[in-house]
Amino acid sequence: MSVDAPAGEALPTPATFVSGLSATRPLLALAPMQEITDGAFWALVHRYGGADVYWTEYFRVQAESTPERRILDAIRGNATGRPVVAQMIGNDIAGLVRTARVLEREGVAAVDLNLGCPAPVVYRKCAGGGLLREPARIDAILGALRDALTIPFTVKTRLGFASVDEFEPLLAIFARHGLDALTVHARTVAQLYRLPVHYAFIRRAVDVMPCPVIANGHVHSAAQAAEVLVATGAHGLMIGRAAIRSPWLFAQIRQQLAGEAVTLPTGRDVLAYVRALWASQDVPGRPERNHCERMKKFMNYLGEGVPGPFLHQIRRAATAAEFDAICREHLDHGEPLALAPIDTAALVPAPLPA
Ligand SMILES: Cc1cc2nc3c(=O)[nH]c(=O)nc-3n(C[C@H](O)[C@H](O)[C@H](O)COP(=O)(O)O)c2cc1C
Repeated sequence: MSVDAPAGEALPTPATFVSGLSATRPLLALAPMQEITDGAFWALVHRYGGADVYWTEYFRVQAESTPERRILDAIRGNATGRPVVAQMIGNDIAGLVRTARVLEREGVAAVDLNLGCPAPVVYRKCAGGGLLREPARIDAILGALRDALTIPFTVKTRLGFASVDEFEPLLAIFARHGLDALTVHARTVAQLYRLPVHYAFIRRAVDVMPCPVIANGHVHSAAQAAEVLVATGAHGLMIGRAAIRSPWLFAQIRQQLAGEAVTLPTGRDVLAYVRALWASQDVPGRPERNHCERMKKFMNYLGEGVPGPFLHQIRRAATAAEFDAICREHLDHGEPLALAPIDTAALVPAPLPA
């Protein structure tokens, strides 16, 4: 498959983000993923057709924090020509407002608040997914951020902390604050990444929210992406792990929605992607072993879509030569690869509402 950059670049402005959400074609977003979605990864995904909008990793916000330089550099160096949404995590209102204003000045398309991170170190401090246990605090934070920002303001949420029953009252709060978009990762915090994804609640958000809703959670193939769009009525899809596995997925979804045949990469296309990923993540002076470890953060997801013992073997690679030999053994062929998660998709189909 071609890796040429797509034609007709959109300018990375707030206006582009909002008009993308109101377009007839669903917006396709690359999900924020800590230690994955840096500027180099955005640029690589873009070479394969790319997302319509890229989320940053989250900025950790506290009373005295300053925005992480590493993530600011990704925003400033954004090579995709597409809008970037800057995500924050935290609960200190003054700190969030201060950081949001800094990010607005960086020219991001929107500022997003994380209400979903399930890491215990985060939620125990009542940030990320932990905030879902304190709706009154969410109400105050959203009000302050909406007042502070002149650019689009968005929220990325899970359905609740412990139960999906928490979602309805949360929606009432979200609906009060003039959000420009709501991304719904349709799992609870307690569920972590386990199936099923409760897509019916995304449909509910679409029905009651005055703003566009972006569907998130376990989107893993072009055909299933189209099903999720129909079932939820969402204005867009946010895709995380499946985009690591297959940067072709955004282009494939566009083909699917246009009624065209979906082009699958061959093993050799995937081999070239892994090598491009290796090169894009290369840091001068980094020991080979550390570079292999860095690559495994990506391979853990890509490996879920490659049949056979690829993942088992690549997790044990310690040198560049070993790493490349394992990739060649499993990927140096001309057969098409669907790159869908082989285990989870087969075992537990994600239920869709009627
Ligand atoms: C490695 C990793 C890091 C993540 N980091 C973030 C993050 O910084 N902010 C966030 O809102 N969600 C984060 N998420 C959650 C994803 O954005 C997304 O909501 C989740 O993976 C479900 O979507 P998917 O099934 O398409 O991957 C992360 C997920 C993964 C796997």
